[in-house]
Amino acid sequence: MSTPEEKRLQAQYTQIATLAGQLAHEIKNPLSTISMNVELLAEDFAQPQNQRERRALERIRRVQKECGRLQSLLDDFLGFARAQPQNVEAYPLDRFLEEVLEFFAPQAQRHGVEVVQLFDSDLPPVRIDRQYLRAAILNLLLNSLQAMPQGGRLEVRTRRDGRWVAVDLIDTGPGMDEKTLARIFEPFFSTKPGGSGLGLPTARKIVEALGGTIQVQSEPGRGTQFTLRFPAASAG
Ligand SMILES: Nc1ncnc2c1ncn2[C@@H]1O[C@H](COP(=O)(O)OP(=O)(O)OP(=O)(O)O)[C@@H](O)[C@H]1O
Ligand SMILES: [Mg+2]
Repeated sequence: MSTPEEKRLQAQYTQIATLAGQLAHEIKNPLSTISMNVELLAEDFAQPQNQRERRALERIRRVQKECGRLQSLLDDFLGFARAQPQNVEAYPLDRFLEEVLEFFAPQAQRHGVEVVQLFDSDLPPVRIDRQYLRAAILNLLLNSLQAMPQGGRLEVRTRRDGRWVAVDLIDTGPGMDEKTLARIFEPFFSTKPGGSGLGLPTARKIVEALGGTIQVQSEPGRGTQFTLRFPAASAG
């Protein structure tokens, strides 16, 4: 169905995406050598004896911090590029969410965020790769925590929606204006200092690779709701 022009663009896109992945990989190795050596330097200067050594230690720490930032950016990028489901199985969505929330609970508690589970106990299973989807859900949960630094409420609700099984993640954070909302799935769009902006694009890629969809509703002052829908797995 695609025109020659579309095919050419698709091929070009694939080539660029592959190159970008290789580039990220190539950067990782020298970067880890740099990090390791900076770490050793930091140890050498751990007890600065004079002003000069104190200044050196300060600079070393700055380099260490930026190395850490680059490393996590590359990890996020490779996570985005590589996101492919492997072990897809029919699994109850509520059980999966319970497992993720159990892991997430201590973090939520530390942030003063109350997590409320409202699960419909009568739902068909969905076809998911648990490990793969876990990363997507965790990023959504983490985004909500980060949006509520003074604490708040995070509701996780499951429900039937026609042939879909849906999960709503509803937070009482500040919400987003239209301009932000229009860009949140763009790779590298972030309003956070140090944010890679790859969390939501990766989450979307993961959910869509499982045949699902991801939607968002948000308004300034009224919180944010993400809705993920997965096709119900046929019985058996
Ligand atoms: N629950 C939410 N409430 C308010 N704003 C949100 C929420 N979730 C996402 N956003 C906005 O969407 C932007 C993009 O989110 P995304 O997860 O892709 O990247 P990030 O969180 O900024 O960085 P990273 O996930 O790499 O740490 C965020 O910077 C924030 O502005
Ligand atoms: Mg994020």
